[in-house]
Amino acid sequence: MSESEVVEERWGKSDATHDPCILAHFKPRADDVLITTAPKAGTTWMQQILHQLRSGGDDRFDSIDEVVPWLELPRQGKAWQQRLLEYDAIASPRVFKTHCTFEQTPGGVDGAKIILSSRDPRDCCVSFYHHQMNMTNQARKLTGRQAPASFDEFFERWIEFAAWFRNVASWWPHRQHHNVLWLRYEDMKANFETSIDQILDFLDWALSKEQKQRAMEFSSFAWMKQHADKFAARDAQGNSFFKAGKFIRKGEVGDYKTILTPEHEAKIFATACTYLPADALAFFNIESK
Ligand code: PPS
Repeated sequence: MSESEVVEERWGKSDATHDPCILAHFKPRADDVLITTAPKAGTTWMQQILHQLRSGGDDRFDSIDEVVPWLELPRQGKAWQQRLLEYDAIASPRVFKTHCTFEQTPGGVDGAKIILSSRDPRDCCVSFYHHQMNMTNQARKLTGRQAPASFDEFFERWIEFAAWFRNVASWWPHRQHHNVLWLRYEDMKANFETSIDQILDFLDWALSKEQKQRAMEFSSFAWMKQHADKFAARDAQGNSFFKAGKFIRKGEVGDYKTILTPEHEAKIFATACTYLPADALAFFNIESK
């Protein structure tokens, strides 16, 4: 490893989806937008929404990752320096996706605009289970991720890794910062246009009525499901990491009821209570017992 690749511990450990060197050296612009989410909280939906609002409606892109890249994702055969040069070449306003905690986000809340989408941890958990079950064998080989042997085995690992809890706990103290817009997946499902208006207002982006209608149509679940090949991660040869039609899956609130037992729910709630303060637990309707 060369000198310049030794980075502070705060940027995290290198793995198949996390390159700490990119984070340590990335320079945010004031008009960048970072979509920060816990896994399965509506990240891809927000990528599509922001690309559509920025473009006034664009259905010609091939892969969402080309127009709204995943910031910290290492790329096969590409050094992080090359990745940063590619980021430098993107015209403003750039939009990136990240699953980083506040501490690992370049510039924190003072570097770029932050749009955070949160989702009920029970639905994130079940969505992530399907994510792991629906990966192709080729993707498993590349990422070293095994298919869960059972839901319970997956569940124990999900709780122990605690990505949802760490992510939300890290951002919660910053939710009222002027550079942060915190949206809930459930509210977006209930009233999409209100959420769109909140985003436009926060970013100070103006759209005609027709552009806004097109952006909303292209960000609908039905449109995204129909064009699912644009949204699933791919390998360097362009092969999807997921079985056909399985990444944009159900898009529902409360799908956790199909799998979680009261014992699973109790464990999620108990874990949340160890990470989150009372006002955050109330925000997520999590009963502190
Ligand atoms: S990832 O892998 O962390 O980036 O996944 P993420 O994109 O955060 O979450 C995937 C879930 O979001 C659902 N989805 C949508 N819901 C509503 N409307 C739209 N347009 C939409 N697009 C994606 C997707 O189906 C996953 O949820 P589940 O519950 O698995 O269906």
